[in-house]
Amino acid sequence: MASEAIEDLLKEGRTFPPPETFKRDALITDAEIYDEAAADREGFWAKQALDLDWFEEWDTILEWDAPYAKWFVGGKLNVSYNCLDRHVEAGHGDQVAFHWEGEPGDTRTITYTDLLDDVQRTANALKSLGVEKGDRVAVYLPMIPELPTIMLACARIGAVHSVVFGGFSANALRDRINDSDCKVLVTADGGYRRGSVASLKPAADEAIEDTPSIEHVLVVRRGENDVEMVDGRDHWWHDVVDSQDADCPPEPMDAEDLLYLLYTSGTTGKPKGIMHTTGGYLTQVAFTHRYVFDLHPDTDVYWCAADIGWVTGHSYIVYGPLANRTTSVMYEGVPNHPDEARFWAIIEKYKVTQLYTAPTAIRAFMKWGDEHPAKHDLSSLRLLGTVGEPINPEAWIWYQQHIGGDRCPIVDTWWQTETGGIMISPLPGATTTKPGSATFPLPGISATIYDDQGEEVGVPGGGYLVLDQPWPGMLRGIWGDDQRFRDTYWSRFSGRYFAGDGAKRDDEGYFWLLGRVDDVMNVSGHRISTTEVESALVSHPSVAEAAVIGRADAQTGQAIAAFVSPRSGYEGDEELAQELRNHVATMISPIAKPASVLFTADLPKTRSGKIMRRLLKDIAEDNQLGDTTTLADAGVVDSIKDRYLAGSGSDE
Ligand code: WTA
Repeated sequence: MASEAIEDLLKEGRTFPPPETFKRDALITDAEIYDEAAADREGFWAKQALDLDWFEEWDTILEWDAPYAKWFVGGKLNVSYNCLDRHVEAGHGDQVAFHWEGEPGDTRTITYTDLLDDVQRTANALKSLGVEKGDRVAVYLPMIPELPTIMLACARIGAVHSVVFGGFSANALRDRINDSDCKVLVTADGGYRRGSVASLKPAADEAIEDTPSIEHVLVVRRGENDVEMVDGRDHWWHDVVDSQDADCPPEPMDAEDLLYLLYTSGTTGKPKGIMHTTGGYLTQVAFTHRYVFDLHPDTDVYWCAADIGWVTGHSYIVYGPLANRTTSVMYEGVPNHPDEARFWAIIEKYKVTQLYTAPTAIRAFMKWGDEHPAKHDLSSLRLLGTVGEPINPEAWIWYQQHIGGDRCPIVDTWWQTETGGIMISPLPGATTTKPGSATFPLPGISATIYDDQGEEVGVPGGGYLVLDQPWPGMLRGIWGDDQRFRDTYWSRFSGRYFAGDGAKRDDEGYFWLLGRVDDVMNVSGHRISTTEVESALVSHPSVAEAAVIGRADAQTGQAIAAFVSPRSGYEGDEELAQELRNHVATMISPIAKPASVLFTADLPKTRSGKIMRRLLKDIAEDNQLGDTTTLADAGVVDSIKDRYLAGSGSDE
């Protein structure tokens, strides 16, 4: 795929110092800030926290009793006040907060004053539905302005939002609602995707057949598709919100009060409700958003093209950008509607200055062809960002040349739902980048690499990525499952946070992320656990046993390969494969559909009966087979391998 020019660049192993034109106006241009932070990490974060408005300042910066951190103890603030009121009070009410564009091309321009009014009305509407401080509110919406509005409205009154990605199924929504006993569900009739309306309310209806905690459903009209409304339970947003008073004082929240839950896949089938709190989280997302994206609030038009259903949208569409008084673009739909140049048309139209997207999207743009970005004026761009998975150097270089016109630094940002904000990333005016490396931990962040024994690996060297100091945006736990919190993150290397990623450092200390080392797959930047997909498969009557692995895929990073042994009486044919894929889509989400399903009478197992996924991965990736000595029946692997290579694994 790489052109000759790209190959040349890669061959030279080139490094990219910050472009001089970029440095001229950059907020940070030298490495001093790293030393400042290293000299006094807590003092450094306290200084960043002072950029927020506090109703009451904290007594203690950090209380650290691993794995429990409390930041800015005793401090009081309100997140929506920091994202809205203070900017309006400072005279910026007319500044645009969001240039929103729907997929069909309809637009809404929302200023800080508009958003503050909407948020207060919505907060009052939530109160009128009985929502109180500490209550959980489930949110299942398309990418429409009501999504940030409801999040900020929750924050205003101290309710906890739990946003569930609109692409998740009714089952997934139900489980998430029940896990944290949400009181209210906010959804929409539907939203636009790939040129037509994808309905949401029917899935919401199905989910809440079995969610005893839900008292009310608030429904935004967006798709205009027909929906059923249950009297007394379901209310149209415009009926309940529009008539409210646009005055709702912000609730003073404790720095450690819960701001939101966001569910993410772990190594078991049950998603984890990651807990994020108020003061430390907002401090880190505001700091990282300002300096990683070099945000100039008076002149920039920033666009994070993620979905708010994922953490990237929470931290870098909603909280970080609004805390920094950013003018953002928010887009509802897919990048190839009505054609493959949609993103570039949006950048030209709004004169976007920073674009933040995922490697999988960049690889899709490469595949669609250079002619699409070439049709548009992208000269407004001055910085590019990526997140979600390791970016291959070819995609990095393409991004830099074809989108960045060779004048934009690229920030490859490593972080997780659990970290709350960016952890490893260049500072664009100060860091010399290398294509494919996320470079260094940010100032105030400490990361290192351990080997199997928990010994620190020197430079150069590789192993497990570990965060060895607490950071303000870190998760405070897993909702309702303290033991799992400790087991998952803090037990592999006692008292240190194990991220689940492999990484190496080169001889200059640059970090290179190597992907997950646990049973979590990364498909197009979406985290999906192998066990989750396996549970979905075995819940189908035809399936006796299933094993799932993520195999390397040039487009999506990883693709899901399923190995299924059918119950007797079931024929493992293409029809059943299709049915199983659809079943997984219904149980979890279309994003979790296996790309290939291979039927096999037996799965490779150890003598103790553990499925050897590593061997299946080797088969799927056509690697030299690893150690097979612990296999109970060595013939199984050969038979699967022969059939896999013969193409009887059905590929979509
Ligand atoms: C992966 C997304 C390499 C990693 C913000 C991590 C990355 C998981 C990068 C978290 C990157 C994210 N380079 N890998 N720049 N960014 N990852 O929770 O495996 O959806 O553990 O958060 O994505 O995914 P999550």
